[in-house]
Amino acid sequence: MRRHLLSIDDLTVDDIDTLFDTAAEMHDVQNRQVKKLPALRGRTVINLFFEDSTRTRSSFEIAGKWLSADVINISAKGSSASKGESLRDTVLTVCAMGVDGLVIRHGASGAAKQVSEWVDAVVINAGDGMHEHPTQALLDAYTLQRKLGPLEGRHVVIVGDLTHSRVFRSNVLSLRKLGASVTVVAPPTLMPSGIDGWSKDGGFTTSYDLDAVLPDADAVMMLRVQRERMSGGYFPSAREYTVGYGLTRDRLALLKPDAPICHPGPMNRGLEIAADAADAAQSVVLDQVSAGVAVRMSVLYHLMAGEDSSE
Ligand code: NCD
Repeated sequence: MRRHLLSIDDLTVDDIDTLFDTAAEMHDVQNRQVKKLPALRGRTVINLFFEDSTRTRSSFEIAGKWLSADVINISAKGSSASKGESLRDTVLTVCAMGVDGLVIRHGASGAAKQVSEWVDAVVINAGDGMHEHPTQALLDAYTLQRKLGPLEGRHVVIVGDLTHSRVFRSNVLSLRKLGASVTVVAPPTLMPSGIDGWSKDGGFTTSYDLDAVLPDADAVMMLRVQRERMSGGYFPSAREYTVGYGLTRDRLALLKPDAPICHPGPMNRGLEIAADAADAAQSVVLDQVSAGVAVRMSVLYHLMAGEDSSE
């Protein structure tokens, strides 16, 4: 396994299998009354978050704590970054305190890679702009694999705001690596430019017609409409978006009854996903959240437990 986790491309299929095997063991720890393992005792992990987060940050925090690491959270809003400090100065400052692992979320695509070139600590990308979110894709694939078995030959449909989605970019890479076939669906205005060449190289299919692809899906992944990244009008109204691309109650009926419904959260209920779908028996939204802890424990363990802390 490589030293950092910046992109799904850092991982081979064997690496992913190894991460999933360990995640399954970590999942068992999650169900114990005493949830501590000693693997990262004496190691320090900093969660450095320049963008808002609920589940990613807290699950990295829980994961680190259950492995007995000391975990410190820094968010840009309460730090000197809001006083104008540069990203480089912020990370060099926290690393000067003796940090072993740096989990970073930043609004700029490529930020995690850039940081990995400045510091000695292990760097884990927790979302860099519109680029990648590798641990999300890992927990998504892990969740699907637990529901469906091996993903080879399974058909996963990813729907929504593809242009702004790092979750989609990482998921296409991981799902294809694991042998799934992938169809991505979005309104024309939210289909990333250059997707034709990219889908050819990446071996996935694009569609503008959700109703046509849903019946054939073995799993569907709904993505949040990321209004905070939108500068103009990408669709005429929320209602029109829902009519064309929301997982509504009517569309739920098109889906195979055992096809898992995923959403990375946070959900815009009533916009990209109806309550009927979010709360359906086949929804795995909360399974994704608990898998997030297990998968992040596994990632921290594999990247950090073997490392010599004197490095
Ligand atoms: C995603 C993110 O931040 O990229 N959420 C998450 O990590 N659970 C997706 C989103 O914000 O829509």
